[in-house]
Amino acid sequence: MKKYTSILSVFCLLFLQITALAQIVRGPYLQSVSPNQGIIRWRTEQATDSRVIYGENLKKLTKVIELKQAVVDHEVLIQGLKPNKKYYYTIGNSKTMEAASEKRFILTAPKLGSTQAVRIWALGDFGSGSKNQLEVKNAVVNYTKNHRAEAWIWLGDNAYSKGLDEEYQKKVFPIYQDEFFQNLNLYPAPGNHDYAGKHDPSEPPYFKIFNMPVQGELGGVPSGNESYYSVNYGQVHLVSIDSELMEPSGLQVMDGKGAQYEWLEKDLAANKLPWTIVYFHKPPYSKGSHDSDTEKDMVKMREHVNPLFEKYKVDIVMAGHSHVYERTHPLRGHFGINATFDASKHIVATSTAPNQYEVGKDGQGVIYIVNGSGGQLGGQKEGFPLKSAIYSNNKIGGSMILDITKTKLEAVWLGSDGEIHDQFTITKK
Ligand SMILES: [Fe+2]
Repeated sequence: MKKYTSILSVFCLLFLQITALAQIVRGPYLQSVSPNQGIIRWRTEQATDSRVIYGENLKKLTKVIELKQAVVDHEVLIQGLKPNKKYYYTIGNSKTMEAASEKRFILTAPKLGSTQAVRIWALGDFGSGSKNQLEVKNAVVNYTKNHRAEAWIWLGDNAYSKGLDEEYQKKVFPIYQDEFFQNLNLYPAPGNHDYAGKHDPSEPPYFKIFNMPVQGELGGVPSGNESYYSVNYGQVHLVSIDSELMEPSGLQVMDGKGAQYEWLEKDLAANKLPWTIVYFHKPPYSKGSHDSDTEKDMVKMREHVNPLFEKYKVDIVMAGHSHVYERTHPLRGHFGINATFDASKHIVATSTAPNQYEVGKDGQGVIYIVNGSGGQLGGQKEGFPLKSAIYSNNKIGGSMILDITKTKLEAVWLGSDGEIHDQFTITKK
């Protein structure tokens, strides 16, 4: 009897060891989800092989993908999926699997060109570990509980203060894991903190942690470069730009030339969807914790890249960096400092009511938004609020929810207090 007990305890120990080895310390999180495929990533304490089991029926998951190589950073690509379908999944290895859960699923992107409505959550400057970060997240959890977002865009400064792997581990993954990372399609952009203040893309952990859809998986002109890419989601063309990247030539996108700028122009010119949102980190206009009158990257962005946004009738340009919320009127031709803003010249808008814009064939101005208080908060430079802004708030944090159909874009800025403090709609004929 004693012999059986000791054999049993050896088995128990072995089982415990295997379980401990496979302990998940990050994720699962979804990457590069397109209409037909998606990547599931997670990290384990010790290296193991990888296994994903998935299917449309939570109680009967039948498809298996196994990768034999022992790794701690697991990355499993699932292909052959149908657009706009929910696939549940479980993760683990050849010895042990996590339990299936209603919260673990991939909702594939809509079929390219689909006119179905989409909801997008835009979050900036968040990974600070602050109370505000949690409150902004909780407000979104509550606001979207009966209508979840399908896509999540990041405006950079995702993890403070150097974008280190352990900063993502402490201040990003645990905060959003349960409600978002395991089932929300993420299309990020990097900020200066993710680059640790440098400009060399070979260094930031950001590029190792995330997979960007750079091959045109979701439409758009393939960029072939993880720094910048575009995706078509329903009727909106989303363009993620890297305001930190310095190319080997020494050029940055705000110089108005170089590979990224050229790609941006090609991509915007090729777009056929009715809506375009371009997002990146350093804003062309701000008087929050950063000043677009004096900070050279922001000045250059405004002078060299804003004309491109106007030329290709971009609807919204969204950034972070400044830890406030600022939304301009629809603008055209305002490339100078704040003092040069002239409402009679630079506002180009047709409104049916306050904040209800209507766009005809000739287009209208570009709405510039700073949405940089998803975790960090506050600051103001001389001249705040911007003369070109219709609404600004540097007192409470928040993030944006955008609902987009073929003919209408509805945007709200949801504060950390759960209230909507700013909203506008754009309709297109
Ligand atoms: Fe920043």
